[in-house]
Amino acid sequence: MKVPAPIVWQQGRLRLLDQRRLPTSVEYLDIDSIDDAVTAIATLAVRGAPAIGIAAGYALAASAARSPQADRTAWLAGLDAAAARLAGARPTAVNLAWAVNRLRRLAHAGAGADALVGEAEAMHAESEAVCLGIGRHGEALIEPGATVLTHCNAGALAVAGIGTATAPMYLRHRAGVPFRVLADETRPLLQGARLTAWELAEAGIDVTLICDNMAAVMMAAGEVDLVLVGTDRVTRNGDVVNKIGTLNLAVLCRHFGVPFYVACPSSTYDPDTPTGADVTIEERHADEVLGTQAARVAVRNPAFDVTPAALVTGIVSEHGIARAPLADTLAGIMTPAGPPG
Ligand code: MRU
Repeated sequence: MKVPAPIVWQQGRLRLLDQRRLPTSVEYLDIDSIDDAVTAIATLAVRGAPAIGIAAGYALAASAARSPQADRTAWLAGLDAAAARLAGARPTAVNLAWAVNRLRRLAHAGAGADALVGEAEAMHAESEAVCLGIGRHGEALIEPGATVLTHCNAGALAVAGIGTATAPMYLRHRAGVPFRVLADETRPLLQGARLTAWELAEAGIDVTLICDNMAAVMMAAGEVDLVLVGTDRVTRNGDVVNKIGTLNLAVLCRHFGVPFYVACPSSTYDPDTPTGADVTIEERHADEVLGTQAARVAVRNPAFDVTPAALVTGIVSEHGIARAPLADTLAGIMTPAGPPG
């Protein structure tokens, strides 16, 4: 990958690429405490569902390693408290809870801090393989000459390796297949303009930046063959929770007959939550919308929306593609008997 790694684990120390400063400045933050990690996650220095899970996993393991382990009951209580703080740093992506609970389960089963560090490293390494699996299953969706529209950043900067929604793009590009990407700028924090457009361009992929409100015109003109986005959580019935604006795209896709696909690692599938209506949608600060030029009026700033399963053509995981009816097909794809196929 040409862009810098979002998460670096160096001799027991966590360093996070400060994505708020991209692409103008490449700077890393040293994360030396749970406070540091919670702040980095809540302020989007690290962002993207898988990346915040991996970062939280490392932060929790490092904190467990720093804490005295002689009194195991106290150590476990400290670990649980730290895990709860990390899981609460952002409410919507299921990966945060998924990652810290994976470490908590291990600790409560008797593992020490070294094993937790090993587990965090394993999660990080797994995520690269998972992205590759998504890429392999999803690449045939991008036909030669196609235009793919994506939203927010579900790329290398949001996870590790080749990203989730971007994985099919990177594999197609490596194979020399010609295609074009339209990147939504993704108001209000511009993850599409600052991150996706940057990382795809750095990789040499043909990418064109559009404002979010241009997607309908592009589709009406027949310029979009496929929409492919990431997700923060897919619920048991197949509802897709993702960056605000994703629902707009899914509605447009239905109207214009464009396939709407979602890249979802199995760590982002939440079979314990029945529907998207049961997910807490993060509401962020008004200043993100107001900036410096808007009138100082009341603001709504939900960071995510819910796309009903009925609008989703398919969900691409590292194990394969689930298609309608998702409520019936998803569980089999997300929790298969064997390793990624
Ligand atoms: O608020 P963000 O930047 O963390 O939102 C990220 C997204 O919505 C991504 O599409 C999602 O997390 C998938 S990342 C592989």
